[in-house]
Amino acid sequence: MAIRIAWMKGDGIGPEISEAALSVLDELSRMYSITYEVKFYDLGDESLLKRGTALPQDTIDGISSSDVAVKGPVGESALESIVALRQRFDLFANIRPVRSYKGVPHLKEIDVVIVRENTEDLYKGIEFTAGKAAFALKVITEEGTRRIARVAAQYAYNRRKLVTVVHKANVLRASDGLFRRVSMEELKGLGLQVNERYVDAMAMALIRDPENYDVLLTPNMYGDILSDEAAQIAGGLGFAPSANIGEKHSLFEPVHGSAPDIAGKGIANPYSMILVVGMMLNHIGVRQNDKRLAEASLRLERAVENAISNGSLTPDVGGKKKTLDVAKDIISALRSS
Ligand code: NAI
Ligand code: MG
Repeated sequence: MAIRIAWMKGDGIGPEISEAALSVLDELSRMYSITYEVKFYDLGDESLLKRGTALPQDTIDGISSSDVAVKGPVGESALESIVALRQRFDLFANIRPVRSYKGVPHLKEIDVVIVRENTEDLYKGIEFTAGKAAFALKVITEEGTRRIARVAAQYAYNRRKLVTVVHKANVLRASDGLFRRVSMEELKGLGLQVNERYVDAMAMALIRDPENYDVLLTPNMYGDILSDEAAQIAGGLGFAPSANIGEKHSLFEPVHGSAPDIAGKGIANPYSMILVVGMMLNHIGVRQNDKRLAEASLRLERAVENAISNGSLTPDVGGKKKTLDVAKDIISALRSS
């Protein structure tokens, strides 16, 4: 059966990197006889301008009736579009693998997965003003913490069996205190090494000794911040894919935003979006127990490594290639591997 993909190109560089990623998906589908059907939907600032809403109903319906969703970055309407989608489809696990590649200038060698709770915390969006003050409610629940801790355990189990719980429970005793306590309970007795770090110290330690970390388990906002930091340690936002996973639905997207400063120039770094395709194929492969998809994803990872080491890089990391040239180089690397 064809994989039904709902694809939202998004804003800024979204359409450019989508084109690059779709060409790579097309090649992989031929190589591995993967059948898929892509339907495009509006989302974000352009949609708001054109249709009066950043998240149209047909987009919601399209995602509902697809096997998986992929989105490019959106712009200023992120709250009404992507944050709303995470809530709407209860995409509670945000998975952000970050690794450095040989050939991309990076600060340090790093290979971590940030497992970020994706529906609670300050991003629940409960904000209000009263007089001259403004308030935002930080929501952390026991069930929300339990289920994300279980996801972190699964990832750690398939990696170095090392989880670091990130929080600020010394100050936020009720909310982060709960996150810490419940995470520790869930991770206990699974044969994993479990550490903890205050988020400020974590930001320091990640840049000082990234090799000491494997899976970072975080509440929503800390994961958002630390994943940009981790991506920069690895060489920049242009190489960072992510997954938003729920019980029924999943949505894959780059970590970065719409990069308005370089949009429309054809020079956006497409690796993030191309790696998004790999993550998506691997995820469906696991869910449908289809080994071909996992193989396709692995082969893509190797082709990405090859293209990078042959210098196929865009200007954000000191290269001269255009967005679509990188896609072509990856396709050549796929064919010759
Ligand atoms: P950004 O990630 O768009 O850009 C930060 C810097 O990184 C810029 O200099 C940009 O040119 C560069 N950059 C990012 N991705 C790149 C790529 N693929 N290739 C080359 N360079 C790249 O973050 P910023 O500027 O804070 O936000 C821009 C817009 O994106 C905002 O409107 C924000 O709301 C939105 N945003 C959307 C997200 C989403 O759709 N999930 C996530 C983060 C931000
Ligand atoms: Mg972010």
